[in-house]
Amino acid sequence: MLVEEAILGRRSVKVFDARPVPSELIERCLSLAIWAPNHKLTEPWRFTVLTGEARAELSRRIRQDLKSLDPAMSWAQLEASVLKHHRKVTSAPVIIAVYALEGDDPLRSRENYAATAAAIENLLLAAHSMKLGAIWRTGSLFEGTSVREFLHAPPHSQFVGAVYLGYSAQRDTPRRRTDARSQTYWVPVADDTQDS
Ligand SMILES: Cc1cc2nc3c(=O)[nH]c(=O)nc-3n(C[C@H](O)[C@H](O)[C@H](O)COP(=O)(O)O)c2cc1C
Repeated sequence: MLVEEAILGRRSVKVFDARPVPSELIERCLSLAIWAPNHKLTEPWRFTVLTGEARAELSRRIRQDLKSLDPAMSWAQLEASVLKHHRKVTSAPVIIAVYALEGDDPLRSRENYAATAAAIENLLLAAHSMKLGAIWRTGSLFEGTSVREFLHAPPHSQFVGAVYLGYSAQRDTPRRRTDARSQTYWVPVADDTQDS
């Protein structure tokens, strides 16, 4: 698939069918993700792949984190929140949580975060080229202590996103973007032809 075709054809996919994704395809996506540019070759991305029953354990960890975050939360509120998260994390056959290692100073940390975001975009495009659907999601549920421990998130790392991956079961919806020209400033240059 041509790069242009992949970029224009990719859509965020939220609805997946139950078909499992072969692990070779997941590995292929990850092996393409890591070709993202990264300053000083820090290779700051760390991935955790969740499939099958691991997603149910994730829900249990989310419950623990919600409880310790707000011990005053009523039982009904907790159950409702856990159920909402459980539905989300089991909505896709595969979740890849992506963390960026912190650098030695704020600038390096920012660069590492940016490089990891670029790796996620690579991952999304790679998935699309393999006829897989995917969406990049954020949210505090991947930042809780218990969830981070379960996912082996490195101690000094920032959560950048979770890629939900699977075979799409949703209809293509049109996407909207503003013309890049309205978001671009071209610095004027002297016209050579007028100079002479
Ligand atoms: C940093 C980031 C975080 C996102 N978080 C969510 C999210 O939590 N939930 C969600 O439904 N979509 C999320 N998205 C996906 C965007 O909603 C989606 O990219 C946008 O609607 C444009 O659609 P497209 O990807 O099909 O072009 C996120 C995208 C990015 C880049």
